[in-house]
Amino acid sequence: TPELVRDPAAWQARALQDRAQGRTLALVPTMGFLHDGHLSLMREARRRVGPQGVVLASVFVNPTQFGPNEDLAAYPRDLEGDLRRCGEAGVTRVLAPAPEAMFPAGHQTWIEVAGVSQGLCGARRPGHFRGVATVVAKLLLLSQPHLAFFGEKDFQQLQVLRAMVRDLGFPVEVVGMPIVREPDGLARSSRNSYLSPAERTQALSLSRALFQARDAAAAGERDAARLVAGARAALEAGGVRVDYVELMDPETLRPVERAVPGTVMLVAAFAGKTRLIDNLRLP
Ligand code: PAJ
Repeated sequence: TPELVRDPAAWQARALQDRAQGRTLALVPTMGFLHDGHLSLMREARRRVGPQGVVLASVFVNPTQFGPNEDLAAYPRDLEGDLRRCGEAGVTRVLAPAPEAMFPAGHQTWIEVAGVSQGLCGARRPGHFRGVATVVAKLLLLSQPHLAFFGEKDFQQLQVLRAMVRDLGFPVEVVGMPIVREPDGLARSSRNSYLSPAERTQALSLSRALFQARDAAAAGERDAARLVAGARAALEAGGVRVDYVELMDPETLRPVERAVPGTVMLVAAFAGKTRLIDNLRLP
């Protein structure tokens, strides 16, 4: 099993040593309760740095990215299981700090990525991407990685972090990884553990709506309003409450009127009380 580090300063000292010894470092930030989506990032990180490289993972349920009425207290946790899974995926060391170690009293510095944070989840979860950008900036500075891995499951998050790294000149290569799905199409998520059997069935309508839009686009449908209306109908028929369905330019995350290859459809919807997100690039 990988080594567990609790203290951010000790973690940073180790990373600086590794770098000074000429090792290649990769970082996979997570909030834990690890599943195959997370593990795919860790395995690719190991593949990229090679057997002599260092794969760092963080397991930290970041309080600053949760809204006051969100699921911070309920968020699933299983550090022992996470360490075992990290070991199997080739992780060298795991940082699992206490919230007070990452955000001690007196913390007053925040990172706001303006443009790509604004719509979609940024509009529905005020302050969410400020919390994400700030904790990831801090994790990058603590970990000093050459490579940092993020999933396209959180497509807007990935674009927010790409913008932050570019705008502030973090010396790291951001690697985006494809969405890992269950055999029936449901995108893997730690929050899937909240779903009752009936909600699990409803949740399938997210991927079904996206696959239907992909098929319509492949058959020549280019009109964004019609593609979105079809997806919304599929979601409502599946019994979930739609938070948003939008067709966006993948770089700017601004709405498009006509779909072109690579246009991304993004969905957020509630199955019961559980908010789920998914997305797909159109053909
Ligand atoms: P978390 O939801 O734990 O996800 C950690 C990383 O795993 C993110 O980059 C996410 O996009 C990726 N991931 C999650 N499910 C995936 C799936 N089904 N397929 C592929 N990748 C998947 O995202 C966060 O944590 C936090 O916001 C964090 C970046 C750690 C900052 O706190």
